[in-house]
Amino acid sequence: MSRENIVLIGFMGSGKSSAGRLIASKLGWQFVDTDSLIIKKHGIGIPEIFNQKGETYFREEESLALASLQGGDRCVIATGGGIVTRPENVSLMRDLGFVVWLKAGEEVIFERVSRNTNRPLLQTGNPRETISLLLAQRNPLYLSAAQYSIDTSDSSRGEIIDSIIEKAQEYFEAMRRNGS
Ligand code: S3P
Repeated sequence: MSRENIVLIGFMGSGKSSAGRLIASKLGWQFVDTDSLIIKKHGIGIPEIFNQKGETYFREEESLALASLQGGDRCVIATGGGIVTRPENVSLMRDLGFVVWLKAGEEVIFERVSRNTNRPLLQTGNPRETISLLLAQRNPLYLSAAQYSIDTSDSSRGEIIDSIIEKAQEYFEAMRRNGS
């Protein structure tokens, strides 16, 4: 059964955490970030987890973080950009509630993430090309996982937040009417 949470998915730099915080404060809901749950559990940062334990381990931790949120309500959950690469995560997110894809174009993403060294997958010789490759792999996954998507390059932050809240409320209302 799907609950009343909003789950934000999208590529690194798409603004999931900042939008999530604003949505949560507007609704009076709790804000949760799966990366932060993992960091808190391990007491080290994401680059250190990737370095010491590897990406597969990190992906398992992401699934555990999503599983730990099951059964909760009224949370806005920001996820890591790679969460959709595991099909089981998509089911876990659907069980949590309304899944929203924050879309952003390659150029905008590159601008937003290029000065940040906190993302191990982008520490490559050619981050621009890496972004392009990962986007090509992941955009179809975001598309099929999401119940609603919004382009963050086209609208103001306020418009994005309001539109997500409106669509989520319509979705939860329909769920309540259907008794599901
Ligand atoms: C990742 C995105 C990051 C973080 C990790 C891996 C990815 O989160 O989970 O560095 O695979 O796209 P953000 O999307 O919040 O940057």
